[in-house]
Amino acid sequence: MKNKSLVSITDYTKEEYLKILDLAAEFEANPVQDILKGFVVATLFFEPSTRTRLSFESAVNRLGGRVIGFSDANTSSATKGETLRDTILTVSNYADLIVMRHPVEGGARFASEISPVPIVNAGDGANQHPSQTLLDLYSIRKTQGTLENIKIFFIGDLKYGRTVHSLVMALSQFNATFYFISPDELKMPDEYKIYLDNLGLKYFEYKEFTDIVGEADIIYMTRVQKERFSDPIEYEKTKNAYVLRAKMLANAKPNMKVLHPLPRVNEVHLDVDSHSSAYYFDQAQNGVYTRQAIISSILGIK
Ligand code: CP
Repeated sequence: MKNKSLVSITDYTKEEYLKILDLAAEFEANPVQDILKGFVVATLFFEPSTRTRLSFESAVNRLGGRVIGFSDANTSSATKGETLRDTILTVSNYADLIVMRHPVEGGARFASEISPVPIVNAGDGANQHPSQTLLDLYSIRKTQGTLENIKIFFIGDLKYGRTVHSLVMALSQFNATFYFISPDELKMPDEYKIYLDNLGLKYFEYKEFTDIVGEADIIYMTRVQKERFSDPIEYEKTKNAYVLRAKMLANAKPNMKVLHPLPRVNEVHLDVDSHSSAYYFDQAQNGVYTRQAIISSILGIK
């Protein structure tokens, strides 16, 4: 994995996922080390973020490295008309690795093709969010004891949810069964269903899930991605499509876990937070260990 950019989750093999997860477990046991001393990581966020940026920065800081970058593109020379190409060619002089979130699908791929230092895609439009996927895999394996043969419900905005797209592709390596639950307007894009068809994997599409909740090992809730809608009326129509309540989990398996990449708006009611299945804040914490593993693998430290 040394010097290998992480742009799409399919850039890495199943074996590489598992190496990252094993390394993340080592970091969870020992999160503060001095192994990145002398290294600089740049975090370039052209779109807002709380968890991804701060967990990457926390990961680097706890390993003794330094972070540079911006959390708001309005404070960068992009506002003066600088191209992404010139930004990447400049910042690569200052950092050993670049973590970038950009609104354009394919923006991270473009950056990886011109950058002399590795790029980690921290989300490119509605396309992919592979570091989130690795922390999601870590969270699933940690709670279920395995990644093989799980039944996972994806609920909400499956059209624009980049974390959903990446995780479906990753779990296709582990013989998962997929339940896609969404309104018609936000269905899973055909390209991902064709991908699963070609692998002979099972998926089901529903509009409701309360009657079948007992089948789930994982419920993966998603926010309706307001920022991706071109028509605000369409957003208003779908924004409250699903609100998960604790009482809806009465028939859930004892070890079923609710994941959410966060931020949530109102799709997971606060009464779920105190339910034994709520795992989304632990999931966010797992982001630090997983990102420590991603960075140290790409920099060739581990
Ligand atoms: N999960 C996630 O990408 O969260 P942020 O948008 O806060 O980074």
